[in-house]
Amino acid sequence: MEKLVIEGGRPLQGTARIEGAKNAALPILAASLLADGKVNIENVPDLLDIHVMLDILRALGARASYSGMSAAVDASTVRSSEIPEALMNKMRSSIFLMGPLLARFGEVTVYQPGGCAIGERKIDLHLRGLQALGATITESGNRIECRAAKLKGADVLLDFPSVGATENIMMAAVTAEGITTISNAAREPEIWDLQQFLNKMGSKIIGAGTDTITIEGVKKLSPCVHKIIPDRIVTGTLMVAAAATKGNITLEGVVPGHLTSVIHVLRRAGVQIAIDDDIMNVSGAGRPRAVERIVTSPYPSFPTDLQAQMMVLLSLADGLSVMKETVFEGRYKHVHELCAMGADIRMDGNSALIRGVPRLYGASVEATDLRAGAALVIAGLAAKGRTVIDQIHHIDRGYESIENTFNSLGGQIERTVTLSQDRIAL
Ligand code: EPZ
Repeated sequence: MEKLVIEGGRPLQGTARIEGAKNAALPILAASLLADGKVNIENVPDLLDIHVMLDILRALGARASYSGMSAAVDASTVRSSEIPEALMNKMRSSIFLMGPLLARFGEVTVYQPGGCAIGERKIDLHLRGLQALGATITESGNRIECRAAKLKGADVLLDFPSVGATENIMMAAVTAEGITTISNAAREPEIWDLQQFLNKMGSKIIGAGTDTITIEGVKKLSPCVHKIIPDRIVTGTLMVAAAATKGNITLEGVVPGHLTSVIHVLRRAGVQIAIDDDIMNVSGAGRPRAVERIVTSPYPSFPTDLQAQMMVLLSLADGLSVMKETVFEGRYKHVHELCAMGADIRMDGNSALIRGVPRLYGASVEATDLRAGAALVIAGLAAKGRTVIDQIHHIDRGYESIENTFNSLGGQIERTVTLSQDRIAL
């Protein structure tokens, strides 16, 4: 069992380069199934979720490789359109494969990906969107079969600007007959990156980044080379860590325009942020100020994926802050762990009332999901004393060697392996 052991209280200093965006790379890897030939994708982060997606592509019969932050996928050998249940259970994002497989083979079988620590994570918007394009859906137990002799363009209105549903419908529509419009589409930068990738392969898509995306179906897509955008959530995580440890760091390869709401909130908390093209300097000299009210909601508002991390900074602020989570109904599992480190956080429905304390204290805590785990690392870096974090596989899903990243900035984090009790008995 791997753990992270953190000696806290050291201000972060130095420079780090931002890795490619996990949430752009995953749908783009899925979309590589649409091309008949070898696709090369650069700036792909070396993460557990990326390797699970590559395993799924291989299980479908594609040739997929990863080296030196680049992935190569040749889907010309794909023979299956059923995603192995065991692999689906490993990663919810395998649901992104429905659109490409339906577009390519006219059929796809998946399994309900199920909920996770942050919420129910339904897929009804995905299924309704594919049905609008002409797919028939048969559910038996948790097995879902989609079939469509020929997908036809349609006008799709999403009840909620779901990132995954927007991406799945885009990928299904690229070779459908006629025009598809997606209204109330999600506007995240990762969707814009997917549009760039698909258009390089010959698609005709406009509007990604706005709430209306239009896709004109084409006959065939061809391989291409594409570089993934930087990860705005990893960027935000490092920014919060600099502020929470009263450090001063420089981040390179940033797209500040992807972080407008995050920069705004951090500046309200008193964090100094200087921007020069794709370089950002972040300094948290004094004690942060409380922020009266932060509400997470779809892009371009404050991202749900930085809610837990921001809560750590607010736990150290001077005053009372209120954080309201509106995207995922269960994304507060980190509150209990932060309170074990001395934070003063009370829940009121889906709002967290955070009364800042002068300092946090090291403790033994457990990562419950990806971003909660990242928040605990930040808390451990800022706290007085030693913090031990268990269940760190959650963190490895979304951060390349988080300990190396923070240690290169002056942090003191060690990854330890403890054998489970029964193996010691042997
Ligand atoms: C993507 O998840 C991201 N994952 C998430 O990042 C991110 O938190 C989320 O978008 C919101 O920005 C990837 O891109 C791989 P949604 P996704 O569909 O697509 C409800 C991380 O930490 N919903 O926008 O699953 C759903 O229950 C991860 O990197 C339906 O009701 O998010 C949720 O409450 C976590 N029906 C809300 O919409 C549906 O069919 C947002 O979900 C689909 C979603």
